[in-house]
Amino acid sequence: ADAPLVLGIETSCDETGIGLVRGHTLLANTIASSMDEHARFGGVVPEVASRAHLEAMTPTVDAALAAAGVKLSDVDAVAVTAGPGLAGALLVGVAAAKSYALGLGVPLYGVNHLAAHVAVDQLEHGPLPKPCIALLVSGGHSSLLLVPDVAEDVISLGSTVDDAAGEAFDKVARVLGLPFPGGPYIDKAARDGSGTAVAFPRGKIDDGTLDFSFSGLKTAVARWVEAREAGGERIHVPDVAASFQEAVVDVLTRKALQACRQYDVHDLLIGGGVAANSRLRALAQERCDAAGVRLRVPRPGLCTDNGAMVAALGSDLVAAGVAPSALDIPADSSLPI
Ligand code: KG4
Ligand code: ZN
Repeated sequence: ADAPLVLGIETSCDETGIGLVRGHTLLANTIASSMDEHARFGGVVPEVASRAHLEAMTPTVDAALAAAGVKLSDVDAVAVTAGPGLAGALLVGVAAAKSYALGLGVPLYGVNHLAAHVAVDQLEHGPLPKPCIALLVSGGHSSLLLVPDVAEDVISLGSTVDDAAGEAFDKVARVLGLPFPGGPYIDKAARDGSGTAVAFPRGKIDDGTLDFSFSGLKTAVARWVEAREAGGERIHVPDVAASFQEAVVDVLTRKALQACRQYDVHDLLIGGGVAANSRLRALAQERCDAAGVRLRVPRPGLCTDNGAMVAALGSDLVAAGVAPSALDIPADSSLPI
């Protein structure tokens, strides 16, 4: 028999993501983003995001069903991001998921956003090795996870003590006069610069923990630029972008491989929006090759927030026989892993 058809709903930030999967087969991954409305504020505005999710929910579900060529009544289970994320934004997704589950008479699964970022890779590269280490880097989170089994056992090894990696990219981009969200613009500018032009600090690099810190780096870049501009000097944006980027990806890849060594794990997964960064992908590959670690990075459309990742994890939960969530599960903005 066919694996159950799982509808996934993701609304933790600005993307209304709707996914449909059967087993690990991706049938639809439809996204409505309110980023255009936030860009002029230089950051995601929670109230704007919540309203946008509400308006986008039904049309995006309908679009995903049409893309997959299935009917709403074909859905066998509903999975939704219960947290972490923006409280109001999560609430819209969780309320919608409850409505679909109740109306269809199918089980509901509230899932953790970070675990979903891990599970999604299976839609592209097949079942996850057990265990694997996951490095999740986005605008909202920077975490290292030990993943014995994505459906049942995900352990946090470390996370950022201040800014997320993507947040640092976005803030430094602003200092350099690049648009929001700045990660892709820094990535592009850095291609014409040198990563060794400026020696920016690598926070917590040798502290023995698997935590990250990026706020000192962000401040160091801002100070460096201010000092040059105050002296009437013109800065070379590509060199600053490349040197900043090198500092971030050096720390991320070193700590990820430190985690692999420490836990004797030979498979590393990188996910989240920052996983789209070309230098991160290249350096991670180089260091994994040197350490005998296999690297998995989903394609960019699966790395950024989306509904397919939630559906993928829901599918694993169904397959593992995990009990569904109660219909009164809360949205939890700081849901722990
Ligand atoms: O996963 P995501 O779409 O949303 C969440 O934050 O959860 O990640 C968005 C983040 C932004 O901070 C954006 O600047 C960053 O990912 N990003 C990048 C690149 N593409 C997106 N950062 C560095 N290099 C990139 N190529
Ligand atoms: Zn995310």
